[in-house]
This record gives sequence, structure tokens and C-alpha cells, in this order.
Amino acid sequence: MGRDVIVACDFAGKKEVFDFLDKFEGRKPFVKIGMELFYAEGPEIVREIKKRGHKIFLDLKLHDIPNTVKKSMAVLSRLDVDMTNLHASGTCRMMEAALEGLTREDGTRPILIAVTQLTSTDQESMENDLLIREPIDRVVMHYASNAKKAGLDGVVCSPLEAGKVHDTCGKDFLTVTPGVRFAAGDVGDQKRVMTPAEAKKIGSDYIVVGRPITAASDPVAAYERCIREFVD
Ligand code: C5P
Repeated sequence: MGRDVIVACDFAGKKEVFDFLDKFEGRKPFVKIGMELFYAEGPEIVREIKKRGHKIFLDLKLHDIPNTVKKSMAVLSRLDVDMTNLHASGTCRMMEAALEGLTREDGTRPILIAVTQLTSTDQESMENDLLIREPIDRVVMHYASNAKKAGLDGVVCSPLEAGKVHDTCGKDFLTVTPGVRFAAGDVGDQKRVMTPAEAKKIGSDYIVVGRPITAASDPVAAYERCIREFVD
């Protein structure tokens, strides 16, 4: 899969997500299903969106003992998603177990990426709450290296970190980057943002875009703008 725009479908339920996707008529954006929608509607929502022809990033951020993660990943693999994720802080053993669970009998599997440190975690909360005293960018790169060592395909990271992740883990190691905005003034609760064109320049492989598309007066035009700036 090449560079692509993933639309974060952060909706409360099935009706809202289908009303949104219907606007795209013939186009089939790559969509991200997060915890809110998945917990509201269950696995059937994944099957239904897949049946409509969309690629799916199932963003459930697993983190548990290796055996539980392995078995859960096997279930997600049968849902036929294209990409899913876990927390790198669950350790290398947990990530290796996840890969085993995710790999189907024929050897195929969804793309598996790791969350390093959530962008909501800052240096202060990492030190005070988690007792991790290293600089946060070192922690992010260490977790990315662990993910690579465990055999994962990439990480979720801020677009500002994408270049450094590629320098540390290689060009083929995927960077999936939220925190994208069309203009610097329009940041909302995302603190460190980039435009789609800047994310392309720095080498993000996938951008995850939510509200700039879902809350736009013309979501299809906003999506097409992302494609034009990031993919074309
Ligand atoms: O609406 P917005 O473009 O900010 O949405 C970004 C999406 O990416 C949301 O679904 C959010 O949960 C997700 N995300 C994020 N930061 C991370 C990981 C995921 O914003 N570190």
C-alpha cells in the first residue's frame, strides 16, 4: 500500500457513520474505526464498512498480557481489517505475541503498528505518573525500535516525529500520523500539527484526519484536498 489518507470516523453510532460515508458516493476512503464506534456497535460495524469496499484501520490500541493480546489479535484478523494497533509499552514479548495471533494460516495478516507515547502524554506526566525519566523523544524512538525489532510494520506518531522515526528505523518502517490540519490556526485539541503537504514532505506514509474532514461543511471536498496535497 502506498501513501494514503485515513479518515478517522469518530462517530457515536452506525447511523452517523453511514450518513457520513454515503456523501462520498463512488469514492471509498480508507477509514479508521476507533474505540467509541467499535464499542457502540460491535464487530458488525467493521464487517459492514468492509462490505461497502473501504479499507479499515481498526484503532483499538491493545495492551494486556501476551497470551490475551495474541488471542484477541486472532479475532481481529478474522474481521479482515487492513491495519490495527497496540501499545508498544506492552513490551516486545507482547508485540511478538500479537503478530503471531494476527497472522492467518495462509501467512497473510493486517498491517500492525504500535502507539509509542500517546500525544496526550507530555514530559511532565511521563516523569510524574509513569516514573520514566528519559526525554520523551528518546522514549518514542526506543519504543519505535522495539516495535521494529518485534517485527511490526510501523508506528503511530506525530508528523513532527515521522522523519526521525524513518532515520532510526528505516524508510520502509511505516509512520501513521494524526494531528493534521489545513491551517496552523485551526488546531483544536491537537497541539503539534502539520498540514497534509508538510506531512508529505517530511515523509509520513499515512495521515489520519478526523475533524478537518468530518466537521467540514463539504467533507468530500476536504477529503479530496487532503488527497491532492498528500498523495498526488
Ligand atoms: O479530529 P482529529 O483529526 O484530531 O482526529 C485524529 C484522530 O487520530 C482521532 O481519531 C484521534 O483519536 C487519533 N489519534 C490522535 N493522536 C494519537 C493517536 C490517535 O489524535 N496519538
